[in-house]
Parts: sequence; C-alpha cells; structure tokens
Amino acid sequence: MYDVMKGLLTITLSAACIVLAASCTGNSGKLKSFTPGEIWPDNNGVHINAHGGGILKVGKTYYWYGEHKTEGTAGNVAHVGIHCYSSRDLYNWKDEGIALAVTHDPESDIREGMVIERPKVIFNEKTGKYVMWFHLERDPQYIDGRTGIAVADAPQGPFTYIRCTRATPKSWPDNVTDFHKGPVAEGLQDVTNLLPDQDPDVVNTLGRDFEQGQHSRDMTLFVDVDGKAYHICSSESNTTLHINELTDDYLDFTGRYIRIFPGRRLEAPAIFIHDGRYYMMMSGCTGWAPNPGHSASAPSIWGPWEEMGNPCVGEGKETTFDSQSTFFITLDDGRVIYMGDRWRPENAIDGRYVWLPVEFNEDGSYSLRWQDSWSL
Ligand code: GAL
Repeated sequence: MYDVMKGLLTITLSAACIVLAASCTGNSGKLKSFTPGEIWPDNNGVHINAHGGGILKVGKTYYWYGEHKTEGTAGNVAHVGIHCYSSRDLYNWKDEGIALAVTHDPESDIREGMVIERPKVIFNEKTGKYVMWFHLERDPQYIDGRTGIAVADAPQGPFTYIRCTRATPKSWPDNVTDFHKGPVAEGLQDVTNLLPDQDPDVVNTLGRDFEQGQHSRDMTLFVDVDGKAYHICSSESNTTLHINELTDDYLDFTGRYIRIFPGRRLEAPAIFIHDGRYYMMMSGCTGWAPNPGHSASAPSIWGPWEEMGNPCVGEGKETTFDSQSTFFITLDDGRVIYMGDRWRPENAIDGRYVWLPVEFNEDGSYSLRWQDSWSL
C-alpha cells in the first residue's frame, strides 16, 4: 500500500519538482536553498512526508522524523507510521523509510487509524539507544491524551514500540498549590479541550487527572546541556503546558514537573537554548488552522518562563506564515532554524514545511521573518 502510494505520488509531484528544481538547484541537481511552503523533493523526487517532525543530529548526519501523511481527509490519522529521512546539508534529504510502522493488530495501541503525531527522537548516551516519544490517541477522536514511547538501536530504526502512558500519574508539580489538592469542580469531564469559559485553575483540571495521569497531547523532547531530558506537552485539556523531567534512560517520567502558562491554551511547543537562555515557541489551539505564534524565554528549564509575544514580524505574522511550530534546529555554530508545518487537512499528504532562520534581538527576544527562499 505504501509503495503504491509512493509511486502515485512520484508521478503526481514530478511536474512540480521539475519547476522547483529549475528554481533552486544548481547544475548538480542538488537543492541549495530552503523554499518555505513549496514542494520539497527527497532523493527520489517525492515530496518529503515527515510532518509535525523533529531533527536529531548523529555525527555529521541529520535525521528528520515526522508523521507520514496519506491522501485526503483520511490522511490526517496514521495509516503508515513515522517516516525518517537523512541529510548532511539540511536541503537534500534521503528517504530512510518508515522508522516506526503502524500495526494491523486490533489489540495494538499503534494500530492503523490511530493518531500518532509530533514524534521526536533523542539519543541516550548511557544506554546507546535512540528513544522516540510521540503523541498517541488510541481513538481518532482525540479523547485519550497519551504519549507513546519506542526505541531503536540505529537512528533510522526500526523502532520498537514499548508502551503508552498519561504523564506523571500520582505526582504533583513543583508549582502545585493547595487549591489543586482540593476538590475538583462537580461534573468536570476529561475532555480534549476545556470549554472556552472554563479556567483550569477554577475547575481544577490538574486535580481531575492526578490519579490517572496528566494529559499529554502536542509534545516535544529536549536534551539539556547536562544530558537531562525533558518532555514538554500540552496538558489539562489543552489549557496548560507541562515540562516533565525524564529518567536517565529517557524511557519514563521521573515524576518531577512544572506547569507553565496555565490557562493560556497553547500547544505545538518547540524549544531551543541560545547563549545559555531557554526559548520556547507555541501556537494557539485552533486545530489544523494556523494562528499567531507565542514566544517565551527562561533562565533555566524550570523557569521562571516569561511570555514575549508573537515572534513573527511582517506580513503573515498573524498566521505564523500559515504554519505551526514543531521544532527548532540548532546548528553547530549556534544559528537556529524554525521548523513549522503548513497543514493541509483536506489532503494531508500535501502538507508543506516552513523553515525560517531565527533572528535574535538586543532585548533578548527572537523574531521570525518570511523569506521566499533562503540559504545558510
Ligand atoms: C493541532 C495540533 C496537531 C494536530 C491537530 C489536530 O492543534 O497541533 O498536531 O493534533 O491539532 O486537529
């Protein structure tokens, strides 16, 4: 099925690739620039299929992991799995195949038709394993709010699925208050999105989920300079972000976490560190539709996190240039690249990528500016 679709897509996209190749490759036929929002052909001339993705650098090679989308509206849920590509220059990507495949076992958590989103992979120096975490909903209606974990011995996989879980069951965050340990509003449902007029710190979503574990929806992973890893997710019915510390093997939560931006309804968290300061970007909660981005910074992963407004400047800033944050790539020389998704929910496989350079400002904030084409 995957091969058939891949073949069809090659034919469909080949005309677009010829046009693209004429505009941004040299005589070598290799890409030499980023063209945000355009078709991005891989080594086979097929549009890269790695949405909601993240990058891991291993030696001199970058690996890009993302959701493999398929055609039409049906393609918004997982029919194939997590796709992996590799590159030395970030422009030209080789198809490494499916790193984590969905199953056809009706008992499996990662069976075809489930929601498997925003995969991120980190390497654990102590165990020598590549560890993948992703957003998992064992129901296409997004009512589960879990994170899945898989491991591999090689960066391109194959990854073996281990388990899924809610975040940090039976643990209170460092910044818990007495209110959270008190009663939960009567009738408060375990819903995907809290009602617009409900405040998590009035109805007590944190207390609601204490026993079974906190929601983990849009998520990312981050390895700090000391090797400690963190899982950052949209929690409490998509109203509040949580930063969770991971165990030394990166396979579990330690139970230590904090809540950040309570009640701000932010998702799509992406994080980077620059000159010793921690920066984050998030989107609002409007599903596949783009909205204005949000930025924040902190002196340490544990905060205090301070919001800094929409980092996008110029035309297109109200929709994050028709994209939603997924990851930041930090180059060896300290430059940082924003990775965003331009979703196409009516034909998921046609989703595009918006990569832009991060500009640092004197006041400690950062900006993103649209570019039709740019290079490093
Ligand atoms: C977005 C989220 C995506 C996907 C989508 C489904 O808000 O960032 O990863 O879950 O909702 O509607």
